Amino acid sequence: MDVTFPDGTAVPALGIGTYRMGESTRTREREIASVQSALDAGIRVIDTAEMYADGGAESVVGAALRGKRRDSAFVVTKVLPSNASRSGVISACERSLQRLQIDRIDLYLLHWRGAAPLAETVDAFEHLAARGRIARWGVSNFDVSDMQEVQALASGKRCSANQVYFSVSRRGVEFDLLPWSNSRGMPLMAYSPFDEGRLLGDRTLASIGRKHGVGAAQVALAWLLAKPGVIAIPKAGRAEHVRENAVAASLALDADDIAQIDRRWPPPSKKQALAIV
Ligand SMILES: NC(=O)c1ccc[n+]([C@@H]2O[C@H](COP(=O)([O-])OP(=O)(O)OC[C@H]3O[C@@H](n4cnc5c(N)ncnc54)[C@H](OP(=O)(O)O)[C@@H]3O)[C@@H](O)[C@H]2O)c1
Repeated sequence: MDVTFPDGTAVPALGIGTYRMGESTRTREREIASVQSALDAGIRVIDTAEMYADGGAESVVGAALRGKRRDSAFVVTKVLPSNASRSGVISACERSLQRLQIDRIDLYLLHWRGAAPLAETVDAFEHLAARGRIARWGVSNFDVSDMQEVQALASGKRCSANQVYFSVSRRGVEFDLLPWSNSRGMPLMAYSPFDEGRLLGDRTLASIGRKHGVGAAQVALAWLLAKPGVIAIPKAGRAEHVRENAVAASLALDADDIAQIDRRWPPPSKKQALAIV
């Protein structure tokens, strides 16, 4: 299952997140091995941010990418709103590139909307793209009205992705943001697909999983991956979790599974405020 960006680049819909990686030297090697195991399993989208462990997560990703693995990775990182002025974005990007030990970021996102004018941030993104420091740019935690503002900017139509909280229990985006993104061919990246781990003990997901011989994690992911245009980025700091999650890419839920999920977490029937972790 691939998801295609507006410029035609396609990536597998299952990625990996890195929040809380790089916080301790004790777990660093395990985290590097986890990211490497993702790449080895064909998981290409690696999501990180300058915010995570103050650059520590980017440095874990950088170490994981050393050698041949860079070519198979699609590296996503994010600039903090406090760095989102024109010059702030440009210097934050250089710092991220250094920690990631790469020449170009595949997708650079504004982490969330802050005080900096969007036009300035987008202008900086375009400057970086023109110089080859980023391949494409996007946003995160933007609702439909924010996306409309982006699109109204001079280069706004070059926005390539939006990353939001989306899981079986946080379905508000299905009402408007997901159809909006789909109609523009813009991938929606689903963060915290396990509600930061809380969904992993859920009885409904576990019972559906038993039927398929898998766990709650794979069911939560398979549900997201069945939606066109959605990239899921579960965080997994252990290779065994990565291997389990990778199974979700080939798991097909049936109508009865979907109905059980809809009963437990009904789809939205009206506009909901965008969920944020
Ligand atoms: N743009 C934003 O504002 C934003 C906000 C939040 C998150 N994100 C991105 O989205 C990513 C994912 O979200 P998240 O980190 O909040 O939470 P999550 O992916 O919903 O859950 C992560 C938790 O699930 C555990 N886990 C993963 N696979 C498992 C498995 N097969 N079995 C049992 N446990 C498993 C992980 O443990 P281990 O680590 O021990 O494997 C970790 O504790 C982040 O890492 C980050 O890259 C972005």
